[in-house]
Amino acid sequence: MPCSVFTTKSELNKKNILNSVSLYKTPLWIYDANIIKNQVKKLNKFNVIRYAQKACSNIHILRLLKKYGVKIDAVSYGEIERALISGFNSKNDEIVYTADSFDENSLNKVVSDNITVNIGSIDMLHQLGNISPNHRIWIRVNPKFGYGHHKKTNTGGENSKHGIWDLQSAIKVVKVYNFKLVGIHMHIGSGVNYKNLKKVCESMLSCVTSLNYDISSISAGGGIPISYKLNQSCINIDEYFTVWNTVQKKLTKFFNHPITLEIEPGRFLVAESCILVAKVNAVKRIKDVYFVITDAGFNDLVRPVMYGSYHHISVISNSCKLINKKLKRKTVIAGPICESGDIFTQSNDGEVKPRLLPLIEIGDIIIFHDTGAYGSSMSSNYNSRPLIPEILFNSGKCQIIRRRQTISEMISLEL
Ligand code: LLP
Repeated sequence: MPCSVFTTKSELNKKNILNSVSLYKTPLWIYDANIIKNQVKKLNKFNVIRYAQKACSNIHILRLLKKYGVKIDAVSYGEIERALISGFNSKNDEIVYTADSFDENSLNKVVSDNITVNIGSIDMLHQLGNISPNHRIWIRVNPKFGYGHHKKTNTGGENSKHGIWDLQSAIKVVKVYNFKLVGIHMHIGSGVNYKNLKKVCESMLSCVTSLNYDISSISAGGGIPISYKLNQSCINIDEYFTVWNTVQKKLTKFFNHPITLEIEPGRFLVAESCILVAKVNAVKRIKDVYFVITDAGFNDLVRPVMYGSYHHISVISNSCKLINKKLKRKTVIAGPICESGDIFTQSNDGEVKPRLLPLIEIGDIIIFHDTGAYGSSMSSNYNSRPLIPEILFNSGKCQIIRRRQTISEMISLEL
């Protein structure tokens, strides 16, 4: 069930929201550290939890995760720098750089800081091997099928640019450069379906046992889904672990030494920890549908526009009038962006999909739930709207972890 403002013990409650709105204005992101901590605990049977920071890369969130014992994945030079600033060590595989290509900065950085690389193309093996033979690497295998909550988040199969298809050719190159191959990694997509789990595990077993190479680790990748809708059942983590643990046990027997089992979640750790808080600036009625225009747009939260993603929406009414709250109206929640797709209530084929919500008026507060993953990390300056603040509640304390960008900061690169 999505984190709910009114039903959980979370710090994402009405009082904290209204206080934050009066202090920091809207739109803003509000996080609850405790929710992240609890999500980490749910995965503690895995030997290594490696956070895919692309989901939310605010350094204060990274520091929390480091404190909770999580390691980190970085997919760019910028993400490596974020990990280092947040206290992750480049040694001991604490940071793994995962990519399908190098640019000059990322290649130089992994070499100078001796950062383990999860290799997604044979070209990367040559580029790294030429300047850093013996480097510690993983190989990301494309298991030839994939699954994501949307076709844009599917990372396996013929239409995917990710991972290595021809593992045997890759292993030959690994031997040429005398790389230290730590393990094999598979990530079939984001928001995976439990039904595919057996297939991925079989693929991992057959890849690893045909390697003719001794490794110490496997990675189940990321992709664990969460429930964005009320009353939606979700993946059972214990069952998920048990299936992967069976692979781990078989490989431990096969190699006759322990095999480390890693998992690489982004969404699962942070999605439910955050809400996007917006204010209503206009309401239009078109026949029986109310169009509510908030001050947050797809420059802030792009998921509904990009994938038709569903985010639970609730309302804090500003009105003192006695409105019949039980009477729900067909409501479209939109943003201020000058583009017709700036609609938060749409289906994944881009159709506008009104929700049944209580009467909403100007000044009301709209809460978009479960926006901690791929929320602020995917936001932009489109329509010249500055990046919005991020606030963190942690055991009763409230901290501003990113202030609002000013207009002059936004345009300064062009001056
Ligand atoms: N590992 C790899 C190699 C990945 O490419 C990803 C996500 C993850 C782990 C973490 O996946 P997660 O556990 O968060 O599902 N923007 C999209 C999701 C894109 C995911 C990209 N890769 C969304 O908002 O749904």
